[in-house]
Amino acid sequence: MANRIYSAVVGSGGYLPGSPVSNNAMVERLRDSGLETSDEWIRERTGIEQRYFATDDQTTSDLAYHASLAALEQAGLEPNAVDLIVLATSTPDMVFPSTACRLQHKLAIRQCAAFDVQAVCSGFVYALATADLFIQTGQAQTALVVGAETFSRILDYTDRSTCVLFGDGAGAVVLKASDKPGILAHKLYARAEHEAILNTPGQLAHGRVCGSPFLTMDGQAVFRLAVEVLESSAREVVGLAGLDLQAIDWFIPHQANRRILAMVGKRLQIPESRLIATVGQHANTSAASVPLAFDVARRDGRLQAGQTVLLQGVGGGFTWGAEALRL
Ligand SMILES: CC(C)(COP(=O)(O)OP(=O)(O)OC[C@H]1O[C@@H](n2cnc3c(N)ncnc32)[C@H](O)[C@@H]1OP(=O)(O)O)[C@@H](O)C(=O)NCCC(=O)NCCS
Repeated sequence: MANRIYSAVVGSGGYLPGSPVSNNAMVERLRDSGLETSDEWIRERTGIEQRYFATDDQTTSDLAYHASLAALEQAGLEPNAVDLIVLATSTPDMVFPSTACRLQHKLAIRQCAAFDVQAVCSGFVYALATADLFIQTGQAQTALVVGAETFSRILDYTDRSTCVLFGDGAGAVVLKASDKPGILAHKLYARAEHEAILNTPGQLAHGRVCGSPFLTMDGQAVFRLAVEVLESSAREVVGLAGLDLQAIDWFIPHQANRRILAMVGKRLQIPESRLIATVGQHANTSAASVPLAFDVARRDGRLQAGQTVLLQGVGGGFTWGAEALRL
Protein backbone atom coordinates (compact mmCIF):
# COMPACT_ATOMS: atom_id res chain seq x y z
CA MET A 1 0.00 0.00 0.00
CA ALA A 2 1.30 3.47 -0.88
CA ASN A 3 2.31 5.69 2.03
CA ARG A 4 -0.34 8.07 3.26
CA ILE A 5 0.00 11.68 2.11
CA TYR A 6 -0.36 14.18 4.93
CA SER A 7 -1.03 17.93 4.92
CA ALA A 8 1.73 19.74 6.78
CA VAL A 9 1.27 23.32 7.96
CA VAL A 10 4.28 25.17 6.53
CA GLY A 11 3.23 28.78 7.17
CA SER A 12 0.62 30.97 8.82
CA GLY A 13 -0.32 34.62 8.74
CA GLY A 14 -2.83 37.00 10.24
CA TYR A 15 -4.17 40.45 9.55
CA LEU A 16 -6.23 42.81 11.69
CA PRO A 17 -7.44 45.99 9.99
CA GLY A 18 -7.20 49.55 11.26
CA SER A 19 -6.49 50.21 14.91
CA PRO A 20 -8.07 48.57 17.98
CA VAL A 21 -11.57 49.71 18.93
CA SER A 22 -11.84 49.59 22.73
CA ASN A 23 -14.93 48.69 24.72
CA ASN A 24 -15.12 52.32 25.77
CA ALA A 25 -15.22 53.36 22.09
CA MET A 26 -18.19 50.99 21.70
CA VAL A 27 -19.83 52.59 24.75
CA GLU A 28 -19.59 55.97 22.96
CA ARG A 29 -20.86 54.55 19.69
CA LEU A 30 -23.88 52.90 21.33
CA ARG A 31 -24.64 56.02 23.33
CA ASP A 32 -25.20 57.77 19.99
CA SER A 33 -27.97 55.20 19.32
CA GLY A 34 -29.41 55.75 22.82
CA LEU A 35 -28.12 52.41 24.18
CA GLU A 36 -26.17 51.74 27.35
CA THR A 37 -23.29 49.34 27.73
CA SER A 38 -20.04 49.37 29.68
CA ASP A 39 -16.49 48.12 29.57
CA GLU A 40 -17.19 46.11 32.75
CA TRP A 41 -20.26 44.35 31.28
CA ILE A 42 -18.45 43.39 28.08
CA ARG A 43 -15.32 42.17 29.90
CA GLU A 44 -17.21 40.21 32.55
CA ARG A 45 -19.65 38.48 30.20
CA THR A 46 -17.28 37.84 27.29
CA GLY A 47 -13.63 38.58 28.14
CA ILE A 48 -13.52 40.96 25.15
CA GLU A 49 -11.39 44.10 25.62
CA GLN A 50 -11.16 45.35 22.03
CA ARG A 51 -11.86 44.48 18.41
CA TYR A 52 -10.77 45.69 14.95
CA PHE A 53 -13.05 47.03 12.22
CA ALA A 54 -12.21 47.20 8.52
CA THR A 55 -12.09 50.66 6.98
CA ASP A 56 -14.90 51.55 4.55
CA ASP A 57 -12.71 50.87 1.53
CA GLN A 58 -11.57 47.41 2.71
CA THR A 59 -13.34 44.21 1.74
CA THR A 60 -12.97 40.68 3.08
CA SER A 61 -10.60 39.74 0.24
CA ASP A 62 -8.32 42.67 1.16
CA LEU A 63 -7.99 41.31 4.69
CA ALA A 64 -7.49 37.80 3.29
CA TYR A 65 -4.79 39.12 0.95
CA HIS A 66 -2.65 40.53 3.77
CA ALA A 67 -3.00 37.37 5.89
CA SER A 68 -2.18 35.18 2.88
CA LEU A 69 0.94 37.16 1.98
CA ALA A 70 2.20 36.79 5.55
CA ALA A 71 1.51 33.02 5.50
CA LEU A 72 3.22 32.54 2.13
CA GLU A 73 6.19 34.59 3.24
CA GLN A 74 6.57 32.45 6.37
CA ALA A 75 6.35 29.32 4.21
CA GLY A 76 8.99 30.74 1.86
CA LEU A 77 6.68 30.27 -1.13
CA GLU A 78 5.69 32.47 -4.06
CA PRO A 79 1.92 32.87 -4.55
CA ASN A 80 2.11 30.93 -7.83
CA ALA A 81 3.18 27.81 -5.91
CA VAL A 82 -0.42 27.58 -4.63
CA ASP A 83 -2.64 25.16 -6.55
CA LEU A 84 -5.70 25.39 -4.27
CA ILE A 85 -7.36 28.25 -2.36
CA VAL A 86 -10.15 27.44 0.10
CA LEU A 87 -11.51 30.55 1.78
CA ALA A 88 -14.01 30.50 4.63
CA THR A 89 -16.26 33.52 5.02
CA SER A 90 -19.83 34.54 5.77
CA THR A 91 -19.15 38.11 4.71
CA PRO A 92 -18.04 37.71 1.07
CA ASP A 93 -17.06 40.68 -1.08
CA MET A 94 -20.04 40.07 -3.37
CA VAL A 95 -22.59 37.41 -4.32
CA PHE A 96 -20.16 36.16 -6.95
CA PRO A 97 -17.37 35.65 -7.94
CA SER A 98 -16.22 33.97 -4.76
CA THR A 99 -13.97 35.82 -2.33
CA ALA A 100 -11.42 33.04 -3.00
CA CYS A 101 -11.31 34.04 -6.69
CA ARG A 102 -10.96 37.70 -5.73
CA LEU A 103 -8.06 36.70 -3.47
CA GLN A 104 -6.48 34.69 -6.27
CA HIS A 105 -6.57 37.80 -8.45
CA LYS A 106 -5.05 40.01 -5.74
CA LEU A 107 -2.25 37.49 -5.21
CA ALA A 108 -1.67 37.43 -9.00
CA ILE A 109 -1.97 33.64 -9.09
CA ARG A 110 -2.61 32.87 -12.73
CA GLN A 111 -4.48 29.59 -12.34
CA CYS A 112 -5.51 27.29 -9.48
CA ALA A 113 -8.67 25.87 -7.93
CA ALA A 114 -10.35 28.49 -5.73
CA PHE A 115 -13.65 28.43 -3.87
CA ASP A 116 -15.39 29.66 -0.72
CA VAL A 117 -16.68 27.62 2.18
CA GLN A 118 -19.61 28.94 4.21
CA ALA A 119 -19.89 27.49 7.70
CA VAL A 120 -19.89 30.76 9.69
CA CYS A 121 -17.65 30.49 12.78
CA SER A 122 -16.81 26.87 11.92
CA GLY A 123 -15.73 28.00 8.45
CA PHE A 124 -11.98 27.72 8.88
CA VAL A 125 -12.16 24.23 10.36
CA TYR A 126 -14.41 23.19 7.45
CA ALA A 127 -12.02 24.81 4.94
CA LEU A 128 -8.97 23.13 6.46
CA ALA A 129 -10.61 19.70 6.41
CA THR A 130 -11.60 20.24 2.75
CA ALA A 131 -8.10 21.30 1.71
CA ASP A 132 -6.64 18.36 3.64
CA LEU A 133 -8.78 15.93 1.65
CA PHE A 134 -7.59 17.50 -1.64
CA ILE A 135 -4.00 17.01 -0.51
CA GLN A 136 -4.53 13.50 0.86
CA THR A 137 -6.03 12.38 -2.44
CA GLY A 138 -3.24 13.96 -4.49
CA GLN A 139 -5.50 16.59 -6.11
CA ALA A 140 -3.50 19.46 -4.65
CA GLN A 141 0.09 19.87 -3.47
CA THR A 142 0.09 23.34 -1.91
CA ALA A 143 -3.08 24.81 -0.45
CA LEU A 144 -3.79 28.26 0.90
CA VAL A 145 -6.55 28.01 3.52
CA VAL A 146 -8.02 31.27 4.72
CA GLY A 147 -10.64 32.48 7.19
CA ALA A 148 -11.58 36.11 6.56
CA GLU A 149 -14.47 38.25 7.74
CA THR A 150 -15.86 41.76 7.84
CA PHE A 151 -18.61 41.07 10.39
CA SER A 152 -18.75 44.80 11.19
CA ARG A 153 -20.85 45.08 7.98
CA ILE A 154 -23.62 42.81 9.31
CA LEU A 155 -23.75 44.07 12.91
CA ASP A 156 -26.86 45.82 14.14
CA TYR A 157 -25.57 48.75 16.21
CA THR A 158 -29.00 49.08 17.80
CA ASP A 159 -28.63 45.58 19.35
CA ARG A 160 -26.19 45.85 22.23
CA SER A 161 -26.28 42.11 22.95
CA THR A 162 -24.57 41.29 19.62
CA CYS A 163 -22.70 44.31 18.24
CA VAL A 164 -20.10 44.37 21.03
CA LEU A 165 -19.11 40.74 20.44
CA PHE A 166 -17.64 40.70 16.93
CA GLY A 167 -14.68 42.09 15.00
CA ASP A 168 -13.02 41.89 11.58
CA GLY A 169 -9.85 40.09 10.57
CA ALA A 170 -8.25 37.34 8.53
CA GLY A 171 -5.99 34.38 9.19
CA ALA A 172 -4.36 31.99 6.73
CA VAL A 173 -2.30 28.83 6.69
CA VAL A 174 -0.33 27.17 3.92
CA LEU A 175 -0.56 23.37 3.67
CA LYS A 176 1.91 21.25 1.74
CA ALA A 177 1.78 17.58 0.85
CA SER A 178 4.21 15.65 3.04
CA ASP A 179 5.00 12.08 4.01
CA LYS A 180 5.11 13.16 7.65
CA PRO A 181 2.09 14.25 9.76
CA GLY A 182 0.53 16.75 9.43
CA ILE A 183 -3.17 16.91 9.96
CA LEU A 184 -4.01 13.72 11.82
CA ALA A 185 -7.81 13.70 11.97
CA HIS A 186 -10.89 15.83 11.55
CA LYS A 187 -14.64 15.61 11.91
CA LEU A 188 -17.31 18.09 10.83
CA TYR A 189 -20.95 18.38 11.87
CA ALA A 190 -24.06 20.44 11.20
CA ARG A 191 -27.43 20.37 12.99
CA ALA A 192 -29.70 22.69 11.02
CA GLU A 193 -32.63 22.43 13.44
CA HIS A 194 -30.83 25.18 15.41
CA GLU A 195 -30.75 27.66 12.50
CA ALA A 196 -32.87 30.21 14.35
CA ILE A 197 -30.49 30.79 17.28
CA LEU A 198 -27.80 32.44 15.12
CA ASN A 199 -28.43 33.78 11.66
CA THR A 200 -28.34 36.67 9.20
CA PRO A 201 -31.45 35.97 7.15
CA GLY A 202 -31.33 38.77 4.56
CA GLN A 203 -31.04 37.95 0.87
CA LEU A 204 -30.70 39.82 -2.39
CA ALA A 205 -33.80 39.40 -4.56
CA HIS A 206 -35.24 41.40 -7.43
CA GLY A 207 -32.76 44.21 -6.86
CA ARG A 208 -33.51 44.60 -3.15
CA VAL A 209 -32.33 43.25 0.18
CA CYS A 210 -35.19 41.09 1.48
CA GLY A 211 -35.23 40.26 5.18
CA SER A 212 -32.88 41.60 7.82
CA PRO A 213 -29.25 41.97 6.70
CA PHE A 214 -28.11 41.97 10.33
CA LEU A 215 -26.83 39.19 12.58
CA THR A 216 -29.36 37.99 15.15
CA MET A 217 -28.59 35.66 18.04
CA ASP A 218 -30.12 33.95 21.05
CA GLY A 219 -26.96 34.33 23.15
CA GLN A 220 -27.84 31.89 25.90
CA ALA A 221 -28.92 29.11 23.52
CA VAL A 222 -25.72 29.56 21.50
CA PHE A 223 -23.67 29.52 24.68
CA ARG A 224 -25.15 26.21 25.87
CA LEU A 225 -24.84 24.46 22.51
CA ALA A 226 -21.30 25.76 21.93
CA VAL A 227 -20.10 24.33 25.25
CA GLU A 228 -21.76 20.98 24.53
CA VAL A 229 -20.32 20.50 21.03
CA LEU A 230 -16.85 21.88 21.78
CA GLU A 231 -16.56 19.28 24.53
CA SER A 232 -17.88 16.37 22.43
CA SER A 233 -15.87 17.21 19.29
CA ALA A 234 -12.64 17.60 21.25
CA ARG A 235 -13.07 14.13 22.74
CA GLU A 236 -14.04 12.57 19.41
CA VAL A 237 -11.31 14.06 17.21
CA VAL A 238 -8.52 13.53 19.72
CA GLY A 239 -9.64 9.89 19.81
CA LEU A 240 -9.73 9.67 15.99
CA ALA A 241 -6.13 10.91 15.97
CA GLY A 242 -5.19 8.05 18.28
CA LEU A 243 -4.35 10.43 21.11
CA ASP A 244 -5.84 11.35 24.44
CA LEU A 245 -6.63 14.83 25.72
CA GLN A 246 -3.55 14.94 27.91
CA ALA A 247 -1.33 14.36 24.84
CA ILE A 248 -2.58 17.58 23.16
CA ASP A 249 -0.09 20.40 23.68
CA TRP A 250 -2.36 23.27 22.58
CA PHE A 251 -6.11 23.79 22.33
CA ILE A 252 -7.28 26.47 19.91
CA PRO A 253 -11.08 26.66 20.03
CA HIS A 254 -13.14 29.22 18.15
CA GLN A 255 -12.71 32.51 19.98
CA ALA A 256 -16.29 33.53 20.81
CA ASN A 257 -16.32 34.14 24.50
CA ARG A 258 -13.83 33.70 27.33
CA ARG A 259 -16.52 32.11 29.53
CA ILE A 260 -17.21 29.45 26.89
CA LEU A 261 -13.48 28.67 26.68
CA ALA A 262 -13.22 28.44 30.46
CA MET A 263 -16.23 26.13 30.77
CA VAL A 264 -15.03 23.79 28.03
CA GLY A 265 -11.51 23.80 29.50
CA LYS A 266 -12.95 22.80 32.87
CA ARG A 267 -15.05 19.98 31.42
CA LEU A 268 -12.07 18.61 29.50
CA GLN A 269 -9.71 19.23 32.42
CA ILE A 270 -7.36 21.31 30.27
CA PRO A 271 -5.26 23.81 32.21
CA GLU A 272 -5.48 27.41 30.99
CA SER A 273 -1.77 27.27 30.19
CA ARG A 274 -2.55 24.94 27.23
CA LEU A 275 -5.40 27.06 25.88
CA ILE A 276 -4.75 29.75 23.26
CA ALA A 277 -7.12 32.67 23.89
CA THR A 278 -7.17 35.76 21.69
CA VAL A 279 -10.83 36.70 22.10
CA GLY A 280 -9.85 39.50 24.50
CA GLN A 281 -7.81 41.28 21.80
CA HIS A 282 -9.64 40.25 18.60
CA ALA A 283 -13.25 39.70 19.79
CA ASN A 284 -15.15 37.10 17.74
CA THR A 285 -13.86 37.26 14.16
CA SER A 286 -15.96 34.25 13.06
CA ALA A 287 -14.11 32.18 10.42
CA ALA A 288 -10.93 34.19 11.02
CA SER A 289 -10.73 33.49 14.74
CA VAL A 290 -9.01 30.08 14.72
CA PRO A 291 -6.29 30.87 12.12
CA LEU A 292 -5.65 34.25 13.77
CA ALA A 293 -5.19 32.59 17.17
CA PHE A 294 -3.03 29.87 15.58
CA ASP A 295 -0.82 32.50 13.95
CA VAL A 296 -0.45 34.56 17.12
CA ALA A 297 0.70 31.48 19.07
CA ARG A 298 3.01 30.32 16.28
CA ARG A 299 4.69 33.70 15.99
CA ASP A 300 5.09 34.24 19.74
CA GLY A 301 6.86 30.88 19.98
CA ARG A 302 4.29 28.92 22.00
CA LEU A 303 3.63 26.49 19.13
CA GLN A 304 6.71 24.43 18.37
CA ALA A 305 7.57 21.79 15.76
CA GLY A 306 6.54 18.29 16.83
CA GLN A 307 3.75 19.49 19.14
CA THR A 308 0.09 18.50 18.78
CA VAL A 309 -2.70 21.02 18.39
CA LEU A 310 -6.49 20.77 18.43
CA LEU A 311 -8.37 23.36 16.35
CA GLN A 312 -12.11 23.73 16.89
CA GLY A 313 -14.90 25.70 15.24
CA VAL A 314 -18.50 26.26 16.26
CA GLY A 315 -21.12 28.61 14.88
CA GLY A 316 -24.23 29.32 12.85
CA GLY A 317 -25.89 26.54 10.98
CA PHE A 318 -25.55 25.20 13.62
CA THR A 319 -22.12 23.87 12.62
CA TRP A 320 -19.08 22.60 14.43
CA GLY A 321 -15.95 20.56 13.87
CA ALA A 322 -12.37 19.95 14.93
CA GLU A 323 -8.94 19.01 13.62
CA ALA A 324 -6.03 17.42 15.40
CA LEU A 325 -2.63 18.09 13.87
CA ARG A 326 1.05 17.66 14.52
CA LEU A 327 3.27 20.65 13.80
C1 LIG B 1 -24.35 37.30 24.52
C2 LIG B 1 -23.94 37.00 25.96
C3 LIG B 1 -22.59 37.64 26.25
C4 LIG B 1 -24.98 37.58 26.90
O1 LIG B 1 -24.63 37.26 28.23
P1 LIG B 1 -25.73 36.72 29.23
O2 LIG B 1 -25.07 36.54 30.52
O3 LIG B 1 -26.35 35.52 28.57
O4 LIG B 1 -26.71 37.93 29.29
P2 LIG B 1 -28.27 37.99 28.99
O5 LIG B 1 -28.52 37.79 27.53
O6 LIG B 1 -28.95 37.09 29.96
O7 LIG B 1 -28.55 39.47 29.37
C5 LIG B 1 -28.38 39.92 30.69
C6 LIG B 1 -28.71 41.40 30.72
O8 LIG B 1 -27.64 42.12 30.10
C7 LIG B 1 -28.19 43.03 29.16
N1 LIG B 1 -27.23 43.24 28.09
C8 LIG B 1 -27.10 42.59 26.92
N2 LIG B 1 -26.09 43.13 26.21
C9 LIG B 1 -25.56 44.10 26.95
C10 LIG B 1 -24.50 45.00 26.78
N3 LIG B 1 -23.73 45.00 25.65
N4 LIG B 1 -24.23 45.88 27.76
C11 LIG B 1 -24.97 45.92 28.88
N5 LIG B 1 -25.98 45.08 29.10
C12 LIG B 1 -26.28 44.19 28.15
C13 LIG B 1 -29.46 42.34 28.68
O9 LIG B 1 -30.34 43.29 28.13
C14 LIG B 1 -29.98 41.76 29.97
O10 LIG B 1 -30.62 42.79 30.71
P3 LIG B 1 -31.96 42.48 31.54
O11 LIG B 1 -31.53 41.46 32.57
O12 LIG B 1 -32.28 43.80 32.10
O13 LIG B 1 -32.91 41.94 30.56
C15 LIG B 1 -23.83 35.47 26.20
O14 LIG B 1 -25.10 34.88 26.14
C16 LIG B 1 -22.94 34.80 25.21
O15 LIG B 1 -21.75 35.03 25.18
N6 LIG B 1 -23.49 33.89 24.37
C17 LIG B 1 -22.70 33.24 23.36
C18 LIG B 1 -22.53 34.19 22.22
C19 LIG B 1 -21.53 33.74 21.23
O16 LIG B 1 -20.45 33.37 21.59
N7 LIG B 1 -21.89 33.78 19.94
C20 LIG B 1 -21.08 33.44 18.86
C21 LIG B 1 -20.95 31.96 18.76
S1 LIG B 1 -20.16 31.52 17.30
